[in-house]
Amino acid sequence: MPDLIVKLFDLPDDAPVKARVAAAGVVLRHAMPYDRHHVEAFLTEHFSPGWVSEVTSAWARQPIPCVLAIKAGQLVGFASYDTTARGFFGPTGVDAAQRGQGIGAALLHEALRGLKHLGYGYAIIGAAGPVDFYAKAVGATVIEGSEPGVYAHMIKGKQS
Ligand SMILES: CC(C)(COP(=O)(O)OP(=O)(O)OC[C@H]1O[C@@H](n2cnc3c(N)ncnc32)[C@H](O)[C@@H]1OP(=O)(O)O)[C@@H](O)C(=O)NCCC(=O)NCCS
Repeated sequence: MPDLIVKLFDLPDDAPVKARVAAAGVVLRHAMPYDRHHVEAFLTEHFSPGWVSEVTSAWARQPIPCVLAIKAGQLVGFASYDTTARGFFGPTGVDAAQRGQGIGAALLHEALRGLKHLGYGYAIIGAAGPVDFYAKAVGATVIEGSEPGVYAHMIKGKQS
């Protein structure tokens, strides 16, 4: 899976995306210290131990570079940034039962704005799975020769 690059100085308007999730009753907000165990449990249930490591490294920082999507008091998605490597977006994920409502796109927009506010000109989406999702949402383009990038020589095992 290649890395992608996004121009933070040329992001599309996020108003329609935010309005869509708001209409679906989804609140987007930055993570707080008291969220960590909920996020860890969500990642363990829906994703992988490797993502627990990557995403919870955000809690070493303040403000925490991770955006959460909350619906009816339940965590339904997340997007961390500037954690796996400086200037990187991700990991991100939405509860499979909640996909297709614009939550992933809204998290992406919010996290990219977080990177922009940190001073970056470009964001890197590390090891992008759904390339078309990123291309459609924010005009991301593939970085040639970026695979495996920062994910080279990962430790193999059941806990990946
Ligand atoms: C990728 C992911 C975060 C998208 O979340 P989502 O909430 O379903 O996405 P959205 O509803 O915001 O989708 C926004 C648009 O992108 C499109 N889209 C969503 N997933 C897509 C995919 N995998 N490929 C292409 N287009 C996709 C949607 O059709 C939607 O189009 P629309 O605006 O016309 O309705 C979610 O599928 C997920 O958690 N996947 C597993 C984890 C993962 O792969 N994370 C990314 C690692 S780099």
